[in-house]
Amino acid sequence: MTKSLSLGVFEILTPSNGVPTWRHPQGRGDRFGDPAYWRGLVRTLDDAGFDFILFADSYGYPLVDGVVPEEVLTHGILFPGYDPLLLVSSLSEAAPTLGIVVTSSTSLEQPLPTARRFATLDAFTRGHIGWNIVTGSTAQVTEGLFGITHFDHDKRYDVADEFVDLCRTLWEDSWDDGALVLDRSADVLVDPSRVHPVSYRSEHFSSHGLFKVPPGPQRTPVLFQAGASGRGRDFGARNAEAMFIQGQDVEQAAKASADIRARVAAAGRDPHDLKIISGVTVTVAPTREEALAKRQELEEQFSMDDAAVLFAGFTGIDLRSLDPAMRIEDIPGNDQGQTPLDRYRTVDGVDTVQDVLDAFRVQERGFVVTGSPREVAEELVATAEAADIDGYMLEPTFGDAGAYEEFIELVLPELAALGAWHEPDRSLTLRERLGFPSPTPSFRPPSKNLE
Ligand SMILES: Cc1cc2nc3c(=O)[nH]c(=O)nc-3n(C[C@H](O)[C@H](O)[C@H](O)COP(=O)(O)O)c2cc1C
Repeated sequence: MTKSLSLGVFEILTPSNGVPTWRHPQGRGDRFGDPAYWRGLVRTLDDAGFDFILFADSYGYPLVDGVVPEEVLTHGILFPGYDPLLLVSSLSEAAPTLGIVVTSSTSLEQPLPTARRFATLDAFTRGHIGWNIVTGSTAQVTEGLFGITHFDHDKRYDVADEFVDLCRTLWEDSWDDGALVLDRSADVLVDPSRVHPVSYRSEHFSSHGLFKVPPGPQRTPVLFQAGASGRGRDFGARNAEAMFIQGQDVEQAAKASADIRARVAAAGRDPHDLKIISGVTVTVAPTREEALAKRQELEEQFSMDDAAVLFAGFTGIDLRSLDPAMRIEDIPGNDQGQTPLDRYRTVDGVDTVQDVLDAFRVQERGFVVTGSPREVAEELVATAEAADIDGYMLEPTFGDAGAYEEFIELVLPELAALGAWHEPDRSLTLRERLGFPSPTPSFRPPSKNLE
């Protein structure tokens, strides 16, 4: 039986997602700060039956050797940007059944306000909020912008385990079901016997007292994560309900999903009790030739220099400073992401610095699927089967919702015909839609609470 795919989209509140398309007639350079633009986009997704929109986010911006390259500002490469959390309530009014997944960092934020924000948004979205948990940041952000200690890569994940434990303690241990009794005749709003002070202390955090926000429909937001390193994936296996990967080709994606599922099993869970979602850029048109021409136009938007700047922003590695003939295994790694080059190591024909840059320019994040509606649908289904992944997260092509509209019009009916997509049950919370119970979370890892 063909599995039914979960579908989301990947967005950032910046002028373009990466490839600087803001100048293109379909670009969003003049609209990315306008809530009405985003409300229109999410309404399109919700009407079509997409499961979620993810807002990636970062306080940082691309740096090369500690300096902001001019292209970051002139070409709007992940700069400037707004705070997506503040848009969620407005979007939820426009798209009441769409999941809204927002990125928030465990290295920069604090557990109590984070728990409070997401619990509030669970109520305000009527059970459609998700948290993309990230730990990654550069010293430029932690020490520079925030003035706080910058921990190394693995330690950031140790801190994140405790951070999530405390958030879960606040969400799951403080309020019993039914504590909000609203009994007018007895003059009791909240039953005091059913609200409990939390008592949590770990190496990095402590919290004692009442959590003020009553549980929403999901109680705990759906937890997403995108670790690529062993430590990152162990964190996801322990804490997350869904993980993102950047599918490069079927073989690499199959390896990634097998590795993640093995870690989920090692964490004591059913290996398929976690959804694996890959990024994908789909370019579709009624004929293959038209789709290829559109894809060509998209690739022309991305100069080699801009690609190098974006790569440096993701990885901290300035490929332009290295010998183009340097072998991939000799490229010096760093602490920003442990494995920025791993996705290329198994790809045939990507052997040198120049090859990495060439490959990144045309495949910035996730699979690239181009073709006629039937071709695209068949490739998505075959890849999901072969790589054992549960769904896809689409990227916009030229910046606005056009790529999604084309996908909805041309590809969704083909996926449905193949039995790989079904109209969602719109009465469900995001957690339930992804196959987990609400409001009770599907699992809870052993806590690091020292009390
Ligand atoms: C689809 C996807 C979305 C991501 N979104 C963000 C983000 O919004 N902010 C961020 O700082 N990192 C983001 N990351 C980076 C990951 O959180 C993670 O740090 C990276 O994949 C490297 O893995 P590692 O931390 O295990 O080394 C994202 C990664 C992927 C694949």
